[in-house]
Amino acid sequence: MEVQLWRDMLAPYQLAVDELVVKFNHVKNQYRDAKMYSPIEMVSGRVKRVSSIIEKAQRKGVDLSQLESKIEDIAGIRLICQFVEDIDAVVKIIRNREDLEIKMEKDYITQRKDSGYRSYHIIAYYTVQTIHGAKKLEVEIQIRTLAMNFWSTIEHSLQYKYKEHMPDELRERLLRAADAVNVLDEEMASVRDEIMDAQNSNRQRANVISDILNNIENLYQVANEREVNKIQTEFFQIYQQDDIGILKRFSKQLDIIAETYRVQSVLNSIK
Ligand code: GTP
Ligand code: MG
Repeated sequence: MEVQLWRDMLAPYQLAVDELVVKFNHVKNQYRDAKMYSPIEMVSGRVKRVSSIIEKAQRKGVDLSQLESKIEDIAGIRLICQFVEDIDAVVKIIRNREDLEIKMEKDYITQRKDSGYRSYHIIAYYTVQTIHGAKKLEVEIQIRTLAMNFWSTIEHSLQYKYKEHMPDELRERLLRAADAVNVLDEEMASVRDEIMDAQNSNRQRANVISDILNNIENLYQVANEREVNKIQTEFFQIYQQDDIGILKRFSKQLDIIAETYRVQSVLNSIK
């Protein structure tokens, strides 16, 4: 195939990769903006290099005219998670998206490959708009943890270095490293709950504080200034104690005070 033809063929795949990287980064940002934990930690994407496409086509006996239907990973997206559990969450997000139609899922998480490779793969159809109209193409989405990604990056470069001739001893060591990666991910899974707890209580605290500040602001309009100043000073003292229980109780008391003023002002207006 001529250089220009390769360019024409790959352009829509580049568009798909660019769009999906933007979209998955947006998912990540939405969680962040909502002050929620994001199951996606990092997003990357690439279009397969022409030399790799040709090499794979030869290896699989695929004719160059059938590349697009037979090579599923011309467009590749990688979603990296902090924890193994996050992978399920990301898979669900993908299954629910209307712009991705799943063709196939490969679970190399529960069924790791003989090499030791672990990752969750989704092959999906994705449509891009070009000047020649809509084009539906295939993308491969790889979902894995940071630890799995570390392993597969190293293993991939060794595979590349040795091609088919990786020494048995090295292969063995990679398998042991893969076991170590599993242990690491399991250890991290137990730490995950603590991280969630910390993030949860931070969110709770922020909500209570914002309720209190809203109430104080409203009180300035209805109550006398000296009294609101007193409440505010009390709040600053409580705030410094940094105890969510005390903050919640204070917030409840403020609700009652605010309610009393509301009733008062209704009564005044009908007098
Ligand atoms: P190829 O492995 O690319 O020939 O594709 P396939 O049709 O056999 O699909 P498979 O699901 O086995 O692999 C798809 C992709 O997953 C590969 O292109 C790699 O990016 C990755 N992958 C699969 N197996 C391994 C592995 O043993 N080591 C590493 N580092 N990556 C792997
Ligand atoms: Mg393979």
